[in-house]
Amino acid sequence: MMKLFVIVLLATLAIANAVGDTHCPGCVTNLKTEDAAASLNKSLNKLATGDGPHYRLGKVNSASKQVIRGLQYRINADLIDENGQTKTCDINMVFFQGVEITFKCPGEDDVTKTHEPV
Ligand SMILES: *[C@@H]1O[C@H](CO)[C@@H](O)[C@H](O)[C@H]1NC(C)=O
Repeated sequence: MMKLFVIVLLATLAIANAVGDTHCPGCVTNLKTEDAAASLNKSLNKLATGDGPHYRLGKVNSASKQVIRGLQYRINADLIDENGQTKTCDINMVFFQGVEITFKCPGEDDVTKTHEPV
């Protein structure tokens, strides 16, 4: 019985943690750059093994998160393309059953990709 309780508690904590600030739905809150970097890097690696785009993560400059019908990250990061060029892009990540990621890079059309959870 105790075991079940612990499992339920851990699951609840995990969900609360994943959803973020449930007390303030819709609020934009700070996202640690290392957390943003970890999620973004996983997503970039996943896309690079698929049909692209092929970016490597330079560094995350700033990040925030917001809960709107799912968890959304907004990240400004330096991305390194296949030619070794660094560009500073605004990236939007939306987490649902999968991940939808949009790249807004200077002088380029927005690119939106979806992939399975990482
Ligand atoms: C991103 O992932 C690559 C490949 O797994 C790894 O080599 C690199 O150190 C990671 N970079 C960051 C900033 O986490």
